[in-house]
Amino acid sequence: MMASTDISISRIEKSKLGELDVNNLPFGKHFTDHMLEVDYANGQWGTPLIRPYQPISFDPSMAAIHYGQAIFEGIKAYRLEDGEVVIFRPDMNFKRFNVSARRMAMPEVPEHIFMGGLQELIRLDEAWVPSKFEHSLYIRPFMFATDELIGVKPSDTYKFMIILSPAGPFFAAPLKIYVEDKYVRAVAGGVGFAKAAGNYGAAMLATAEAKAKGYDQVLWTDAHAHKLVQEIGVMNVFFIVDDTVFTPDLDQGTILAGITRDSAITVLKEMGLNVVERSLSLDELVSAHAAGTLQEAFGTGTAVTISFISELASADFKIELQPENWRYAPELKRRLDAIRYGIAPDTHGWLLHI
Ligand code: COI
Repeated sequence: MMASTDISISRIEKSKLGELDVNNLPFGKHFTDHMLEVDYANGQWGTPLIRPYQPISFDPSMAAIHYGQAIFEGIKAYRLEDGEVVIFRPDMNFKRFNVSARRMAMPEVPEHIFMGGLQELIRLDEAWVPSKFEHSLYIRPFMFATDELIGVKPSDTYKFMIILSPAGPFFAAPLKIYVEDKYVRAVAGGVGFAKAAGNYGAAMLATAEAKAKGYDQVLWTDAHAHKLVQEIGVMNVFFIVDDTVFTPDLDQGTILAGITRDSAITVLKEMGLNVVERSLSLDELVSAHAAGTLQEAFGTGTAVTISFISELASADFKIELQPENWRYAPELKRRLDAIRYGIAPDTHGWLLHI
């Protein structure tokens, strides 16, 4: 892996860091001093530029805002106990980014731009990585179509950018989840496995309706019968039944291949648990709950890390769980946090040191 690339850097004159209230960092609201930007044209990527964080301008006909060729990633950098800064598994996000790019007929971003650019930008804004527990620097790489054309075709030009946002916890409390039975997130052959901006836009109405009913997020189900579990708005989902962990498999291409999902599976296995990735029905969960064997339910995601689920409800059933009595998900969270904050050894080589 190349650690850096030819990057042109224009530094900010005076850092905004002094204005940041580090004790009040809502997710995604504050941005660091610099951003990375690089354009694609004539079949090739230009030279990346790191410059002061600022608005960008575009033509009203810019393709991305009409037809949605736009993808993104979410990555986190952590400050270890000894002060050092690390990035959690960015190589996985790099690979997934290009999977999304291919699905959306966009050019792949080369490793030296994505990985080299990421590291260079974080080195420059390193002081912005929070040192508080449960806090991190959220990294948002994204790419969008920039052709000035409202003809419907893959754009010939694109912009890839990285912005950074210091952030605290995404969700403060255990989640109440509504099981979606009207809207659909993904179907085999669709874009469910891609981190396409439109997947999130398409989910907003369902989430807003669930919120109006008193829930935090929706659990997406299969597009055909609304009987199989897929994922939750901003995370993958896990259930523990009778000491076995279940999470939907990725085979249908309807679920995002979460990096926290993958890390959680590894750590749960290390905890001695059997982890089963397979298609999972709501009926099974309801039966397990009735039999008293549904022990725990939680979501995994970069932004949310591990989020406990205290309620799962639909028009037909309501499952209530007591995270305060759980054994496994809190231990999973503790172990993952220990790796991310440098309290436990990084035995999997998940941390990229800056
Ligand atoms: C993430 O977990 O990084 C996500 O991308 C989810 C959300 C913030 C959109």
